[in-house]
Amino acid sequence: MARMVEEHPLPARVMHWIHLLCMGGLAISGWYIHRPFFGGGMGIMRWVHFICMYVVLINLVTRIYWAFLGAARDWHEFSLRPRDIRNTVKIVVYYLFIKREHPEVGKYNPPQKLIYGWLWPLLLIFQAISGFALYGPTADYFAWFTVWVGGLAHVRLIHYMTMWAFIITVALHVYLSLAEDFKSFLYMFFGVRPEE
Ligand code: HEM
Ligand code: HEM
Repeated sequence: MARMVEEHPLPARVMHWIHLLCMGGLAISGWYIHRPFFGGGMGIMRWVHFICMYVVLINLVTRIYWAFLGAARDWHEFSLRPRDIRNTVKIVVYYLFIKREHPEVGKYNPPQKLIYGWLWPLLLIFQAISGFALYGPTADYFAWFTVWVGGLAHVRLIHYMTMWAFIITVALHVYLSLAEDFKSFLYMFFGVRPEE
């Protein structure tokens, strides 16, 4: 258990909760803005989207700051190294049920490092740029992006498609964390420490 307590300190768990709640709020409200699935909710859904977008961005900056300068300084857990090429093969073999034993690859395996440390932060920054390009008061500052992708209709489409990139990768993340490491899930979410 000591391993889990050390691997997932309280600030990391709180930031994970904030991320989860905001991403849920952004996906539901964004989906509604794209295609309202009941009447009269546009005002509240836009409000939810705006609150969540600011909170999630502050949370992202805080998580990055904490990764480099916080007590745990866990940035190196997400950095990719040459040995990750070999580790990717090992973990794919394991995920394809070819080998039974989980290989020793460190706290996060290479696909996890790639998704947690690179893909999601970059996608969120990209989503923020395309989102602020859609937002009236900031649209002028992001006009370069709108022009680059060929107009506001394309910005909306890109913002919408990026939501799907999140939904698909988060679905995989949820499936694997529940199926693969349920103890870690219990600790990460509820601070519950089952017997090891
Ligand atoms: C992180 C910063 C974000 C900003 C600044 C932002 C901003 C915006 C803005 C201004 C709109 C248009 C609202 C309107 O027309 O009233 C919008 C729509 C939308 N947002 Fe976001 N958003 C962000 C993140 C996200 C995330 C993370 C998701 C999904 C996971 C998302 C999904 C959507 C969708 C699906 C729409 C509707 C697009 C359409 O009209 O087809 N947004 N967003
Ligand atoms: C119900 C939904 C979710 C579940 C069950 C879940 C579960 C977990 C678990 C168990 C871990 C521990 C590390 C591991 O073994 O992989 C973790 C880490 C992580 N999760 Fe999630 N997660 C969920 C949603 C999300 C969302 C929506 C995001 C953001 C898009 C996210 C981002 C991360 C990141 C970046 C880590 C790396 C560790 C850290 O930040 O300290 N998760 N998640």
